[in-house]
Amino acid sequence: MNEDWSAGYVVETGYTYGAYPELNPVRAALPLLLKGLRAPRIETACELGFGQGCSAAVHAATQADVEWWGCDFAPAQAVFARDLVAASGARAHFFDDAFDEFAERPGLPDFDYVALHGVWSWVNDEARAKIVSFLRRRLKPGGLVYISYNAQPGWALAGPLRHLMKRHAETLGAPGLGPAANLEAALSTMQRFFAEDPVYSRINPGVTDRLEAVMRQDRAYLVHEYMNRDWHPMWFADVEARLSAAKLAFAASAYMSDHVDALNLSPGMIGFLQGLPDPSLRETFRDFAVQAQFRRDYWLRGASSLAPADQGRLLRDQRVVLVRPASQRPSHARGTFAEMALSGPVIDAIYDQLADGAPRTLGELEAGLPPGADFSALTASLVMLISQNAVQPAQAAPAAARASETARALNLELARRAAKASDLGFLAAPVTGGAINATRFHQLFWLAMRDGGGPAEWARFAAEVLARQGQALVADGVALAPEAGLAALEAQASAFADTVLPCWRGLGIA
Ligand SMILES: C[S@@+](CC[C@H](N)C(=O)[O-])C[C@H]1O[C@@H](n2cnc3c(N)ncnc32)[C@H](O)[C@@H]1O
Repeated sequence: MNEDWSAGYVVETGYTYGAYPELNPVRAALPLLLKGLRAPRIETACELGFGQGCSAAVHAATQADVEWWGCDFAPAQAVFARDLVAASGARAHFFDDAFDEFAERPGLPDFDYVALHGVWSWVNDEARAKIVSFLRRRLKPGGLVYISYNAQPGWALAGPLRHLMKRHAETLGAPGLGPAANLEAALSTMQRFFAEDPVYSRINPGVTDRLEAVMRQDRAYLVHEYMNRDWHPMWFADVEARLSAAKLAFAASAYMSDHVDALNLSPGMIGFLQGLPDPSLRETFRDFAVQAQFRRDYWLRGASSLAPADQGRLLRDQRVVLVRPASQRPSHARGTFAEMALSGPVIDAIYDQLADGAPRTLGELEAGLPPGADFSALTASLVMLISQNAVQPAQAAPAAARASETARALNLELARRAAKASDLGFLAAPVTGGAINATRFHQLFWLAMRDGGGPAEWARFAAEVLARQGQALVADGVALAPEAGLAALEAQASAFADTVLPCWRGLGIA
């Protein structure tokens, strides 16, 4: 343990290498505009507690007009983030500062946008106060904050599981074994315990399913989720009270599925919530209605309401793009209350226009709507497609064009690293200004494409990479012989060329 600087935060186990689309400020305008709020123009942005910095590096490489800053006090993670962004050639300022040190850094600008993902619930009150103080001092008036956190009442049932894990590790764990091994031992004891049918799980039957789900999760994630000294799921009203000290007011959920009430709430519940006169109380009751466990929200310092005409104009200027091939169009969207079919003339019209991969404005999509469909039907359908990660907001064309070189350089680095490992499962898309999920083989095909050739050559390249690593393709748990492995890769490369590649062209990746 590095008690002096880590304040009980698990730093022995490096954080996972995910890039999180919710952190992308390009995505913020649409949910804010849908609520009738002005979205700030973002020129300076920062991420607090960036982990391995994958999201921050992608954002710096794909948002040429934004100056990106960030900090994470774990030095190995800050080094990883710096190396990644340096490979892109983008200008970015990443440091291994704690939040309070970062606030004092000479040359630090004031920010239009500050993001924290997976930080707020896992630090102590002192660190949370430093975050609030940072926001108070460094966020510009009109600025936007994205914060995610573990929410109540969603953890009321499973919170005690975390208590058992932590107590087991504190009493029987050996510091020398490290948090991952101590967690494993705790989980094994807990499995034996719950097999004995304690009263706790008899009156809370969901808890054993929850433990089974935990057993299947990535261990690095679990260590960071549960093994920190601090773990504080919070009520919305608590978060609101703390952020009000930084002059922040709740603006909108960053989770697009939350914007479709019919997906998450019964008609009676929608009516009940609408009848509550206080917006904050409404959020609290809504958290009970959906059993909220994790909230991802935007907060504004000085929310500014738009006149309906301005709202309509700005919405119509917003661009969107397909991020999943049209052939992989989702059939349904599922929320906490209902499942809704993603079909019908409006969704068909959206796909007809976006299928070539090029981004379109909502105004352009509106012009292609079938007779009788109005703009609100278009926005509702788009919100559902965005919630299913089929479509995403796109940044302005000139900004995307200016980022093409740095995004390409970052992708080269990511694909080269994919030759050795599979933990960086994303590429940078200049059109969305963010990350797009990419499998290791797709990354390798993309790398091979640079030398020309077609699917057969790309498959051979991927096969050579695997052979150099002493790895083989596995089907049904059995390692394939080299010829069968090559044939399987060729099939994958052909499917990639037919479906994924057109989409990646639209995203500016290929
Ligand atoms: C759960 S991780 C989330 C990382 C990243 N935001 C992500 O979502 O991938 C929380 C991060 O906050 C960092 N952190 C915790 N307390 C901090 C502090 N006081 N100052 C700076 N970073 C801190 C940790 O090192 C860790 O990388």
